[in-house]
Amino acid sequence: MLQSTGNPKQNLRSSTTNFVRGKKYNYLFTMIIVSIETSCDETAVSIIEATGPIESPAFTVLGNALYSQIALHAEYGGVFPTLAKREHTKNIVPLTIQALTQAHLCTQTTHTLTEHQITRIKEILSREQDLIPIFFDFIERTAKPTIDALAVTYGPGLEPALWVGIGFARALSIAWNIPVVPINHMEGHIVSVLMDTKAIEVTYPVLALLVSGGHTELVYSPKPLEYTVIGKTRDDAVGEAYDKVARMLGIPYPGGPKIAELADSARNEAVVTHWKFPRPMLHTKDYHFSFSGLKTSVLYATQDKKLSEPDKAHIALEFETAIRDVLVTKTKHAIEAYNPRSLVIAGGVISNTYLRNQFETLVGQYEPMKVYFPTQELSTDNAVMIGVAGYLRITKNASLLQMSNAPIVANGNLSL
Ligand code: KG4
Ligand code: ZN
Repeated sequence: MLQSTGNPKQNLRSSTTNFVRGKKYNYLFTMIIVSIETSCDETAVSIIEATGPIESPAFTVLGNALYSQIALHAEYGGVFPTLAKREHTKNIVPLTIQALTQAHLCTQTTHTLTEHQITRIKEILSREQDLIPIFFDFIERTAKPTIDALAVTYGPGLEPALWVGIGFARALSIAWNIPVVPINHMEGHIVSVLMDTKAIEVTYPVLALLVSGGHTELVYSPKPLEYTVIGKTRDDAVGEAYDKVARMLGIPYPGGPKIAELADSARNEAVVTHWKFPRPMLHTKDYHFSFSGLKTSVLYATQDKKLSEPDKAHIALEFETAIRDVLVTKTKHAIEAYNPRSLVIAGGVISNTYLRNQFETLVGQYEPMKVYFPTQELSTDNAVMIGVAGYLRITKNASLLQMSNAPIVANGNLSL
């Protein structure tokens, strides 16, 4: 807890009473955090105000800017790392200006850096040569904003893409003399649910199901920020399976949302489909997943066939039903084994309304357990969730507020 560390930094503004999201806090500190996310094909910068203890924090978004590169990657059928890096480099500064402006924290002025700061920033950005002129142009014309910390994703993800965000955050840290907290992107997804008013008091232990384009994991969390991964996919992630099946049906990347739409249309017509796909690892006693067999059977069933629009909708329906069966059954087993008080489901795939409803129904059988989802906007990649994780990390360990020269190393395979 911040108060008990005996080391509150002067740059934390103290407040005695605080209203965040309609809730009154008698909590000592409010922090403003600038967060940066560049792990995949979204460049995002957010500014949040955070307060409250780690068990029941509260957040307000002051500024949020996001640029999705999806359309650029569509022609490659997936994310193309060097293109992602180039786009992050080009967009990170304009997005930061946009987020700071929204938060009323962007003031134009002349900001002179010391020789030492300039040398350090050039060292830090040595891998990001294209970013150096853009960075200095911005920093030398902008007043240092009143913020307390930076938070940045350092993995998992595409390393060339991660390095842009890390380099930028560390350069800002030197220029503004503000600490930077490295954040695991998957932790960001888990804590993204805390932005929803309903989730303001998630109770522990938590069981989290993470379903994104790169990950499918069941995670047990006995208390905030402590995790044991109890199961994960042996091959493809759920979102990846959605995207690959979409491609087989001639739908451009990322096809997840379109598959969901097709499945919904067939479901609403209550069609009985003759397509039948497997439910891999449904009955194994562990909490692991596998989706490549499901994907391959869609491939065999569809290749060299001319598919009508109703065929595509029926395939999408059977595919999504198979995904539902596996995710819900594995989660049910994990609930029974681990007896959590809350279920958290996060990651891009849980944008899917049908899957949300299925989990609501599942949790209804285990009252008083509750299920928490991120808002639609925060289900896919964003920087707000990275700021939320940053606040919780600082709340757990206030020494993160000390300036450090330690490098932050991108880790594409970082696990929880
Ligand atoms: O979490 P996210 O934004 O990025 C990663 O960290 O991977 O997740 C993106 C994934 C993509 O595979 C996309 O197709 C999938 O989420 N997705 C969906 C839906 N919306 C996005 N999958 C199923 N149904 C949806 N409605
Ligand atoms: Zn993600």
